[in-house]
Amino acid sequence: MQFLFLGILLLVVGCNGEAHPRWNGQCALSSPVDEEVFPRQVSSNVLRDFQVTAPVYAPPDAKCEQTLMVHSFGNSYGQPFVGPYNPPSCDFNRVVMNFTVTSKGRQFDRLALMYLNDTEVFRTSTAEPTANGIIWTYTKDMSALLSLFKEPQKLIFDLGNLIDQTYTGPFNTTLSATYFMEANTPAAADMVIPVSGRMSSSNQPSAFVLPAVTAINNLTLPRNIKKAYFTLSACGQANEEFWWSNVPSSTTQTFSNTTLLGFSPWREVQLLIDGSIAGVAWPFPVIFTGGVVPGFWRPIVGIDAFDLKEDEIDISPFIPILADGKSHKFEIRVVGINDDGKGHASIAETVGDNWVVTGKIFLWLDDKGSTTTGIMSIRNVSNPEFHVISGTQRLSNGTNTTLTYSVLAQRNLEINSTIKTSEGEQVVSWRQSISFSNTGEVSDGGNTEVNSQMTSGAHQSSNGYSRIYSYPLYVWNTFSDNSASGGNLTISGKMDRSKDEEVLGRGALDTPVDALPPSGDSDSAPSYTGYSIRNRQNGTADLVQNNAKNISASSGETEQTYELSGEAGSLPQNAQAVPDYGNGKELYSRHVIAKNAAVILDKESPVMDEGFIANDIVSNPGLQMLGYPMAGVRGMLGRGPA
Ligand SMILES: *[C@@H]1O[C@H](CO)[C@@H](O)[C@H](O)[C@H]1NC(C)=O
Ligand SMILES: *[C@@H]1O[C@H](CO)[C@@H](O)[C@H](O)[C@H]1NC(C)=O
Ligand SMILES: *[C@@H]1O[C@H](CO)[C@@H](O)[C@H](O)[C@H]1NC(C)=O
Ligand SMILES: *[C@@H]1O[C@H](CO)[C@@H](O)[C@H](O)[C@H]1NC(C)=O
Ligand SMILES: *[C@@H]1O[C@H](CO)[C@@H](O)[C@H](O)[C@H]1NC(C)=O
Ligand SMILES: *[C@@H]1O[C@H](CO)[C@@H](O)[C@H](O)[C@H]1NC(C)=O
Ligand SMILES: *[C@@H]1O[C@H](CO)[C@@H](O)[C@H](O)[C@H]1NC(C)=O
Ligand SMILES: *[C@@H]1O[C@H](CO)[C@@H](O)[C@H](O)[C@H]1NC(C)=O
Ligand SMILES: *[C@@H]1O[C@H](CO)[C@@H](O)[C@H](O)[C@H]1NC(C)=O
Ligand SMILES: *[C@@H]1O[C@H](CO)[C@@H](O)[C@H](O)[C@H]1NC(C)=O
Ligand SMILES: *[C@@H]1O[C@H](CO)[C@@H](O)[C@H](O)[C@H]1NC(C)=O
Ligand SMILES: *[C@@H]1O[C@H](CO)[C@@H](O)[C@H](O)[C@H]1NC(C)=O
Repeated sequence: MQFLFLGILLLVVGCNGEAHPRWNGQCALSSPVDEEVFPRQVSSNVLRDFQVTAPVYAPPDAKCEQTLMVHSFGNSYGQPFVGPYNPPSCDFNRVVMNFTVTSKGRQFDRLALMYLNDTEVFRTSTAEPTANGIIWTYTKDMSALLSLFKEPQKLIFDLGNLIDQTYTGPFNTTLSATYFMEANTPAAADMVIPVSGRMSSSNQPSAFVLPAVTAINNLTLPRNIKKAYFTLSACGQANEEFWWSNVPSSTTQTFSNTTLLGFSPWREVQLLIDGSIAGVAWPFPVIFTGGVVPGFWRPIVGIDAFDLKEDEIDISPFIPILADGKSHKFEIRVVGINDDGKGHASIAETVGDNWVVTGKIFLWLDDKGSTTTGIMSIRNVSNPEFHVISGTQRLSNGTNTTLTYSVLAQRNLEINSTIKTSEGEQVVSWRQSISFSNTGEVSDGGNTEVNSQMTSGAHQSSNGYSRIYSYPLYVWNTFSDNSASGGNLTISGKMDRSKDEEVLGRGALDTPVDALPPSGDSDSAPSYTGYSIRNRQNGTADLVQNNAKNISASSGETEQTYELSGEAGSLPQNAQAVPDYGNGKELYSRHVIAKNAAVILDKESPVMDEGFIANDIVSNPGLQMLGYPMAGVRGMLGRGPA
């Protein structure tokens, strides 16, 4: 185990721009979008990977900064970076983190989790390097975790990587944080409490890896809670990385030469408090940079690949129980579907190996010494309704040629309580209504698969927070393997996916609207009550590998459109599952197309209503297309063990 101590760099720079009203005496940017904030290209040979997302602002002047980690992750399985975190000496109510990574050579995509003591604060994954090297920067507003950044902590950064003669790329990382004050910042939670493996005292990461362990913490909380949220962080890895392409369990033996992965393409991440469901998350299907066909994700990475988002649950209706001064059991589960092939389907309490999960409890407290009381009046959690059908086409001799299936799921949940705080009595409630559908077809002995999936939901809390979202996903892929006879192994794919959401009010987490650069027009200081995001990626890609000829190359074309709008609406009384756009004011948008690892179109609207600016178009003829790692085609496509 290593324990590295890093010197802390404190930077205080003078103000050379004009002070901006929104930033409480901080300096305004002289131009809304400049190269310093959004550098696109480092040098002609180093590829700059990026995730399309709205910009995150940190004032360039009058700030304090700390470098938290400078570390190369080489042979780092089981060897996280461990270093001290100490709060800076300046006043701050906002924290923006910059995670910058370089890598060169050949390497898989890796998952990485950052913790402050036992609390996971950031989950990311890596891009796959090229022979000439790659670099990326991801900036993240972490102000919702203010209470953690105000205390000394142990910083544990776990990025498990392996180096050998074939997989040569380490991930060289720099993590820094900028701290500043903002006038109209939302009140961050007073306390953030982890539900995790709690391993920091032995310098180890604290994620639970399901289903090998159960994810349970017994916790006694303060008695003066007035608002409580829970955030779930969960993603599938290994046999569960492509959970959305898993088949009904009754059909895993359709093709004689392969076992398909089961438990259906439906997953639910559950939060249970004292054994009762308090809320659920139907996860967004993240695709990592080596996923399906790696040529999709260079240099544009998949939606959320650099920032695996959490789902939020308002657990305020549990305050009557949680504020009783006794210990309560918090458990996170990941479930799928068992089916018998005859139309009967039920929850599978366990799924494949594995899911990496943690949770956080966000508490806002009442006056010291006060005790919140109350009663839970309604806890109406329906069983999810499933509709699973499947069928096969077969030849006259009985050989199956095509498997088709359809999985539908639906669930409603409503929990209401009355609580009494120093401010009086109020009803607190949490409602979720979610539906899911996936139709899939597998053919060609398991070598070709297509999935069309839709997850959509409406979540609503009595404190004014509501989120409606839809995650359509279409993925087709096929492979042929002639490598045994010295020929090519090829994979081809097509995808079209979106993450659309509309959020009104405020849950526990930071919103992209809070993190935008200040507007040039001080009158338009944000009065938004929420935001909406429309984010779509589509494209085609191919991969060819020939071991005899030492070829491993992937070509592809990926297009992405991203639009962030500020919403001024009030909470919809009847939240519908399909987001209703059109009331919002567009604040930021980007349209980018990358082909064969070069950006061929890139239009970005600045935040300031000055029309579109065109970013540099990267033409990179010298770029090496070689060097994609392959861990076995089934592993790569999620169609079976690697
Ligand atoms: C992020 O950090 C990197 C390396 O430390 C630096 O080069 C880059 O300018 C920073 N980006 C922003 C937006 O602060
Ligand atoms: C990463 O760091 C290692 C060790 O410090 C160094 O040898 C290597 O050149 C660095 N690679 C990149 C791409 O910066
Ligand atoms: C973090 O853990 C260390 C011990 O490893 C402890 O001294 C410190 O108080 C903890 N910080 C917080 C905020 O709990
Ligand atoms: C949590 O408490 C329950 C009793 O309520 C006990 O059975 C269980 O072992 C405890 N679990 C952990 C992880 O401490
Ligand atoms: C055909 O597929 C079904 C399930 O999808 C399976 O039960 C059956 O055993 C398969 N038949 C053969 C001959 O593989
Ligand atoms: C069934 O027929 C197909 C097509 O003629 C053939 O490829 C396959 O080997 C046969 N399977 C068996 C089990 O005889
Ligand atoms: C519980 O919720 C279902 C719909 O999800 C609804 O039909 C039923 O009336 C509710 N029951 C109560 C007691 O509110
Ligand atoms: C639960 O509370 C919400 C918000 O206060 C309210 O709209 C809803 O009608 C309540 N549900 C029931 C079944 O009383
Ligand atoms: C199954 O594998 C055998 C041996 O590798 C091969 O001969 C046969 O063609 C395969 N069958 C299918 C349907 O792919
Ligand atoms: C194998 O792939 C290489 C590179 O794309 C291509 O030049 C060659 O024609 C392919 N061979 C076959 C038999 O398809
Ligand atoms: C993405 O889809 C649009 C149609 O909505 C199509 O015009 C475009 O060519 C597609 N882009 C790619 C890279 O396939
Ligand atoms: C295979 O190709 C890679 C990348 O071009 C090169 O570094 C390596 O030396 C080649 N290996 C062999 C055995 O030719």
